[in-house]
Amino acid sequence: MSERKINAMVTGVGMYVPEKILDNKYFESLVETNDLWIRTRTGISERRILEKGATSDLATRAALDLFEKHNVSPNEIDVIIVATVTPDMFFPATACLVQERIGANNAWGFDLSAACSGFLFAFQTGCNLVETGRYKKVLVIGADKMSSITDYTDRNTCILFGDAGAAVLIEPTEDKSLGLQNSILRIDGKGKEALYMLGGGSLNPASHETVDKKMHYIFQDGKAVFKVAVKGMADVSVELMEKSKLKSEDIAYLVPHQANLRIIDATAERMGIRKDQVMININKYGNTTAATIPLCLTEYYRDGKIKKGDNLILSAFGAGYTWGASHLVWAI
Ligand code: UT7
Repeated sequence: MSERKINAMVTGVGMYVPEKILDNKYFESLVETNDLWIRTRTGISERRILEKGATSDLATRAALDLFEKHNVSPNEIDVIIVATVTPDMFFPATACLVQERIGANNAWGFDLSAACSGFLFAFQTGCNLVETGRYKKVLVIGADKMSSITDYTDRNTCILFGDAGAAVLIEPTEDKSLGLQNSILRIDGKGKEALYMLGGGSLNPASHETVDKKMHYIFQDGKAVFKVAVKGMADVSVELMEKSKLKSEDIAYLVPHQANLRIIDATAERMGIRKDQVMININKYGNTTAATIPLCLTEYYRDGKIKKGDNLILSAFGAGYTWGASHLVWAI
């Protein structure tokens, strides 16, 4: 295989979280649960809910935030990739809706569906486009309005999810020490038994029956997913450390998908890294599916906690199953 001439690096970040906060106490009035159970079993204290609007609103605001903070003009964007499992509608793609709203008049783009690994897969795709030399500015957005597919009478799932959007800009660099270095990405369709939304697709088109049977909501066998998620995320992160020849002390941060603090802690332990080497914001936002990783990147960058040259391991596990890890050297 010929050596790559161009690396893909992150040159901007942006985010949007809705104002409305639902704390754990609120759920005590909805289902049989309590604040202590939620905090100790998941690490979540509160989550944000978008009251009006859809995923394209979350994605658009995240993109505009990035443009403003990094002085980017929408006409410079070549490609828009939106990772989401809660598109505004089946078609047109959310990427098209975002394109119009932000005024990216020279862009093409598409949606990508990989649930909680959606950002990781979209990020890899965006980097690959940049590495070809054909595209100079690729906008990758992770956005989900999880509240639109959450059953607020199901205590197993309703406490877990929140709404958010976050984005990164990817650009080329000839400095091979910066940007995406290595990735390991995987899918396994056996996951369809444990985490899914059955209704609304071509298998079970929307009908009175699908609504009555609550088939338009997330179903999760939490315990089954927990087991494979712990193993999958830890294994792939450790394998990537070996592939990239990184020791635990070389890593500035693990940037994990925020589904459960116990999954994150187990992954960090297997990687041999300290708690302060792990990005965490699950306490504030819950599981925002495709948005968790870019949300972490944006917050930690803006707090001055990441610097140029830092080794980051992005790692996720989600429905499908989908999972993987990427070694990114921070470039700004
Ligand atoms: O992001 C995509 C991938 N998804 C994940 O990574 C999520 C993976 N799974 C998890 O994070 C965890 O399995 C959950 C947080 C969903 C559940 O935690 P758990 O420790 O695995 O609990 P469990 O499902 O084993 O349930 C233990 C008990 C059960 O009661 P019994 O059967 O022991 O009497 C549940 O009914 O806790 C009960 N329970 C609750 N209790 C209070 C389940 N949900 C709640 C709740 N409040 N909200």
